[in-house]
Amino acid sequence: MNVTVRLRPLATIRADLIVLGSCEGSAVSRPGSGLDRGAQRAIAGVLERGDFRGKPGEIVVLYPDRGGPRILLVGLGPAPTLTTQRVRVAAGQAIRRARELGVRTVAAEALGAGVLDPAVAAQATAEGLVLGHYRFGSYRTERGPAAVRSALVCARDAKPAPHLRAAVARGVAWAEAVCIARDLANTPGQDLVPEQLAARAREIGRAAGARVQVLGVAQMERLGMGGVLAVGRGSVHEPRFVILDRPASGRTARAHDTVVVIGKGITFDTGGISLKPRENMHRMKMDMAGAAAVLGMFSALPALPFRLVGLIASAENMPGSRAFKPGDVIRALDGTTIEITNTDAEGRLVLADALGYARRFAPAAVVDLATLTGAVRLALGTRAAGLFTDDDALAGELIAAGAATGERLWRLPCWDDYASDLRSDTADLVNSAGPEGAASLAAVFLKRFARGMRWAHLDIAGTASSTVEAPLDPRGATGFGVRLLLEWLSRRASASVSPRP
Ligand code: BES
Ligand code: MN
Ligand code: ZN
Repeated sequence: MNVTVRLRPLATIRADLIVLGSCEGSAVSRPGSGLDRGAQRAIAGVLERGDFRGKPGEIVVLYPDRGGPRILLVGLGPAPTLTTQRVRVAAGQAIRRARELGVRTVAAEALGAGVLDPAVAAQATAEGLVLGHYRFGSYRTERGPAAVRSALVCARDAKPAPHLRAAVARGVAWAEAVCIARDLANTPGQDLVPEQLAARAREIGRAAGARVQVLGVAQMERLGMGGVLAVGRGSVHEPRFVILDRPASGRTARAHDTVVVIGKGITFDTGGISLKPRENMHRMKMDMAGAAAVLGMFSALPALPFRLVGLIASAENMPGSRAFKPGDVIRALDGTTIEITNTDAEGRLVLADALGYARRFAPAAVVDLATLTGAVRLALGTRAAGLFTDDDALAGELIAAGAATGERLWRLPCWDDYASDLRSDTADLVNSAGPEGAASLAAVFLKRFARGMRWAHLDIAGTASSTVEAPLDPRGATGFGVRLLLEWLSRRASASVSPRP
């Protein structure tokens, strides 16, 4: 679907369907002003009868009697509490209905523009349209309802607010970046092994103006990346470590300011010798959703006044005669020895090497995204990701960015007390210590490898995929984290953050 802006009133635009938003019980946004008489009559009719009240989730499709485009009214809820997330959801609901109706062209007003800042409303509308329209169809021979060909976001009045065009372009770019991450995470493990993930990283990184380096087994052996190597050993598909390095740009480029973003890239997680149960194991093709979020982010990067490094630690976790085993002791990049007690706690092993590698950039901030524990999914469900950090300021920045994009973070502890559970009789620590507090234990494990750096860990095991259909997220991969990262980086770019010594 092609989404563009038209800075003309809706009434002058030809489309199969016109989307209007309406707030609950408010005259602020009585829809339809500026449309022709037939359209206005149809809208007035449904409002007067009380068949549409503007509640969140409410949708009616109207057919004005003189022909012309269908009109879709979508509820935005009470005006005083309107949020950008409600706008995104409404736009997502509208575009889904449009798709079901087989409509080819849609024109939507910037939903909630009378209440929210028009540019903010326009961006949220564009995001909702693209996110809600997404389908993963690459492997289907039976086509579902045809895609909507084009969607326009329109200004209600003739003199539109400034920045509207840029806001819509940004919303579209960000949402398409989410779709890139979704496609990657939805792709079956057979078609996305570490080598293929690295190849995609190369394409996306280069297009973003980054220098991309892909480390293979020999190079990782030379460096001593025992974590990635151990996890990848059981598979014929060799592990890869990818570095995407983009320099600072612009007049205000801050030479010694580097941000590192790390993604867990397990292209399939069988659990290894500590094999997972058969139920739902197929979902583990999404165990590279963290890496996918990092790549999605790279695909839509704005110019940034700081250096940005993406690190992807990728392996396929398989059992086999060459696989690493419980009881083995491995040595991570920073020299720490780890006794393997569970080969299914593999994410933290590849991330340990990535955190060790991050150190060489002396970063001002490091954020990792990983589908790390089932425990975080049990604790928070699919509506919030776990945030783990000792740095309150960084926590605040990330929570605020996620609140703005509708990707919620909820802080969970990573107190040092947990570390005693990770003691090993043989090595410096074990990689797994039972189910109690597993999400925090995993974070505390990572924290050891992040020492001295300003670091935060996002456990996206709950949010990266959905088993139920939602207005913005179809079943399967959600692309969680992409817009959050873009928002966080954009805010950091405009703030005068000085790097820590
Ligand atoms: N990839 C899984 C975590 C996961 C679970 C992601 C559910 C998405 C949905 C991770 O590698 C894993 O297996 N974690 C173990 C950790 C345990 C062995 C301490 C888990 O959560 O069971
Ligand atoms: Mn695992
Ligand atoms: Zn995993």
